[in-house]
Amino acid sequence: MLIRGGVTETVDSFALDVRSGLGRAGQKELPSKYLYDDVGSALFEAITRLPEYGLTRAEERILRDHSDDIAEHLSAHDMVVELGSGSGRKTRQILEALAHDKSMTYCPIEISSSALVRCERELDDLAHVSILGFETEYLDGLGNAVARREPGDSVVVLFLGSSIGNFDRGPADEFLRKIRYAIKPGDMLLLGTDLEKPLTQLIPAYDDALGVTGAFNRNLLARINRELGGDFELSQFQHVALYNARERRVEMHLRSMETQIVTIDGTRFTLQCDETIWTESCYKYRRNEPSEMAWRTGFECVAQWVDGEWPFAENLFVAV
Ligand code: AVJ
Repeated sequence: MLIRGGVTETVDSFALDVRSGLGRAGQKELPSKYLYDDVGSALFEAITRLPEYGLTRAEERILRDHSDDIAEHLSAHDMVVELGSGSGRKTRQILEALAHDKSMTYCPIEISSSALVRCERELDDLAHVSILGFETEYLDGLGNAVARREPGDSVVVLFLGSSIGNFDRGPADEFLRKIRYAIKPGDMLLLGTDLEKPLTQLIPAYDDALGVTGAFNRNLLARINRELGGDFELSQFQHVALYNARERRVEMHLRSMETQIVTIDGTRFTLQCDETIWTESCYKYRRNEPSEMAWRTGFECVAQWVDGEWPFAENLFVAV
C-alpha cells in the first residue's frame, strides 16, 4: 500500500540561500542539501556503487551481517521513519527483519521526489508494510510522520549513510536533540556514522577516477543555471576534495579556474582565479563519539556495530 503525505516547496529558499552564500565577503558557500535534486540524487546513487566509495557497502554489510541482532533490538516497533531514504535499497533488509509477522508503517522522508518514487517502488512488495512517503525536509517530515502514530505505538527513526556528517558538530547535536524532542522515551534512532580512516582510503572516495563525484558537485552549479537562471560555465570549475584534519571532515569545493563574473537572475557575482565555493562537509567520527553525542542529546547508545573492511559504525540509540 502506498500513500503520499505532504509536499513542501523550497524554491524560494534555494534562491535566497544561493544569493547569500555567493554574495558573502569571505569563503563562498552553498548548502549541501541543494546537491540532491533529481540529477544529484541519481549521481549520488551512482557514487554509492563506485569502487572507491566504500561507505554504502560497509553499511549494507553491517545491516546484512547483523540483521538478526538489529531486528531483535528493534522488534516491538510499529512505525519506521527514515530521514533521507534515497532509493530505499538499504532499508529493505531492516523492514524485512521487522515486519515478518506484524504490520507496520514505513515513512520515508525525501527532498528528491524521484528518489522518493524509486524508494516507494523498491519497497512496495513488502508484506505487512504500509508506505507513507513525505516529500519534504527531515524535521518537517518527522513531525508529520509521528503525528500519525497511534497511542501506544513505538517509533524507530533511521538516519543512515552518515548523512549526520553533513552537519557541523554543534548543529549535529542540535539536530539530534530536535529528533529527540519529536519522539518519546523508549523510541529508537539507528544512526550511521562514517569513521576516521587513512587518507589513502578516504580521499579517493570523494575524488573518484571516473569523475562522478565531480559531476555530482558541479551539478549544483548546473542546477542554479536550470532553476535560477544562472550562467555558470561548468568547465571553468574544478572539483576539489580535501581533508580538514583539525575539523576531521572532508570538504568538497568548486574552484574557479579563472577570474570570472557569474550572473544569476540579473545579480552579478565575481569569482577570483582559484577562489572556491564550499559545497559540502562530510565529518568523520571516532568510534566512541556517537555514544557521547547520544548522552549530550537525550539518548543512550545501546549498541554499535562496526564494519571490518571500511571503518563505519551503525549506532543504536534509545530515547531516554
Ligand atoms: C550522503 C553525506 C553521506 O558524506 O559521503 C558522497 C555525501 N558527497 N560523495 C558522504 C557525498 C560526496 C555523503 N553523504
